[in-house]
Amino acid sequence: MYQGIIHRYKDYLPVTKDTPIITLKEGNTPLIPLTNLAEHLGIKAEWYVKFEGLNPTGSFKDRGMTMAISKAKEDGAKIVMCASTGNTSAAAAAYAAKANMKCVVLIPEGKIALGKLSQAMMHGAIVLQIKGNFDDALTLVRDITESHPITLVNSVNPYRIEGQKTGAFEIIEDLGDAPDYHFIPVGNAGNITAYWKGYKEFKDLCKSSRLPKMMGYQAAGSAPIVDGHPIKEPDTIATAIRIGNPASWKQAEAARDESKGIIDKISDDEITEAQKLLARFDGVFCEPASAASVAGVIKYHRENPIVNGEKVISILTGHGLKDPNRAIEISTTPTLVDSTKESILKQLKDFL
Ligand code: F0G
Repeated sequence: MYQGIIHRYKDYLPVTKDTPIITLKEGNTPLIPLTNLAEHLGIKAEWYVKFEGLNPTGSFKDRGMTMAISKAKEDGAKIVMCASTGNTSAAAAAYAAKANMKCVVLIPEGKIALGKLSQAMMHGAIVLQIKGNFDDALTLVRDITESHPITLVNSVNPYRIEGQKTGAFEIIEDLGDAPDYHFIPVGNAGNITAYWKGYKEFKDLCKSSRLPKMMGYQAAGSAPIVDGHPIKEPDTIATAIRIGNPASWKQAEAARDESKGIIDKISDDEITEAQKLLARFDGVFCEPASAASVAGVIKYHRENPIVNGEKVISILTGHGLKDPNRAIEISTTPTLVDSTKESILKQLKDFL
């Protein structure tokens, strides 16, 4: 039976036989080929999405959280805390529940997607909303956890990065080598840091023959790394990456520079268009922030055509059901019809 990422990759993770493994069987997510969308866009590359929305709480955060909570448990922690745009809080709340720990989450008021809020509430976390953004929340959490017996489980906790690097291991094992390009949304910049670490470690162990170009994408209204300075009031419909001062800023730049990749920005319209295209052409429903990694491929390919045979990965960091309000907002309203066969068939006349 599949046992989760710590069990699968324990040789490459900072665990011992005494570490209690707190798992919801995260990881082992599929690479889904975007055959229809690639054809529609004239992209000849082998293009896959790694659908991290299929993790137990619906986002990639579960990979980091199984490590952070297991190590917190090993250290005897009773209470964990995080700042979050939503997904971290959902994962922290779920894994803390599994570990019999208390979880406190600090979120920006009114700016987290409905599905994520419902998760933190259902798993019994203490959910505190602040009149401020993610960056303000993280500053508070760092301050409080430094002076109280509370374990911080944001990605500044190195165990989070260790868990998340396993995404790169899975890609290498599935493809038989590293891809040419790795497209990924960038918010607090922990995940791009983690993937780059994972790719480098497997390359050093000769489990892959090369390294991918790391292609990070921020939302245009929240693009501190691209713009070159912190953004005081970041804004984007992709609330997951509404972050103005990423904690792993330097590490993200290192991943970009060492891999000869780029970090670029993408507009909210481009994000929305990519989210819709993916859902309609290839049947994969991701949340808005995740679609930045697909919008990134579309934008990059327009300017620098990706060639036949190259392997391209877009990381879909979270499931579309995380943010149902946004999905409904950008879709056509269902048509109200009489409950008769005739009125239904009338609606289908163009297709029959
Ligand atoms: N995609 C999704 C769906 C996210 O939830 C996040 C981050 C990112 C991308 C960006 O990843 O921060 O490692 O660069 N969400 C955090 C949270 C900030 O609180 O859930 P990153």
